[in-house]
Amino acid sequence: MTDQHSIVQNIKEAAAYIHAQYEAKPEIGLILGSGLGVIAELVENAVTISYGDIPHFPVSTVEGHAGELLLGTVGGRHVVLMKGRFHMYEGYGVDTVSFPVRVMKELGVGKLLVTNAAGGINTSYEAGDLMLIKDHINFTFRNPLIGPNLSELGVRFPDMSEAYSKRMREVAKAVAAEQGVKLQEGIYIGLLGPTYETPAEIRMMRTLGADAVGMSTVSEVIVARHAGMEVLGFSCISNMASGILDQPLSHEEVMETTERVKQTFLQLILGILPRL
Ligand code: HPA
Repeated sequence: MTDQHSIVQNIKEAAAYIHAQYEAKPEIGLILGSGLGVIAELVENAVTISYGDIPHFPVSTVEGHAGELLLGTVGGRHVVLMKGRFHMYEGYGVDTVSFPVRVMKELGVGKLLVTNAAGGINTSYEAGDLMLIKDHINFTFRNPLIGPNLSELGVRFPDMSEAYSKRMREVAKAVAAEQGVKLQEGIYIGLLGPTYETPAEIRMMRTLGADAVGMSTVSEVIVARHAGMEVLGFSCISNMASGILDQPLSHEEVMETTERVKQTFLQLILGILPRL
């Protein structure tokens, strides 16, 4: 296991490399989920850095997606955007998955916007809905903060009572109302994957209060909150979760739905960013 000193050192070295390519301090970090990479098109005057070129940065295992960090502006705000994220089902440890968030913090990011594709557990949802994440349930049974606390980064026992900023959620709701976009608000439950859930598991998760299920986000948000970042999260309900409809789940359906709603999602994000 990497010791405390070298984790902090690695974060600083990765951030220094990125800073050398893009001098301005990014204020907002964006992490884009499956099929939602189109949001990267919003970035103006973008500087693109391959993950593989950044010291200590993990490299994506998904074929055809080396993974890139984009720095630039959206609506006049400096942003850093991860095109491609790391999932634990790929075999990465929880520290690796959340490392880029720590690098963002070191670059000066104070606000993090995360998106994902998720299965709808709430039966009043339908595929294609966008859901503002109100809160999460960490069902990965991993926590990126286990181990000696990095006190340079945050406190030992971080508060998670407002993991997803109420202030930013209000902004998102106002923009959605102005744009006439239907926006659900609910609880995201994060699992390891890579199997989709069984119908019995989905019934259990509904009983536990979850509205949408996915395989990402929770570790990134835990690290962001540890570092004192304000977080806004969206799930694109790409399919109804297992057992709700009489049909099997597939990655193709997830990609098709995100493709269908991406323009609406893009406009929403574009409207929100300048007001965060
Ligand atoms: N389950 C878990 N993760 C997902 C799903 C799902 O139904 N859809 C998209 N990501």
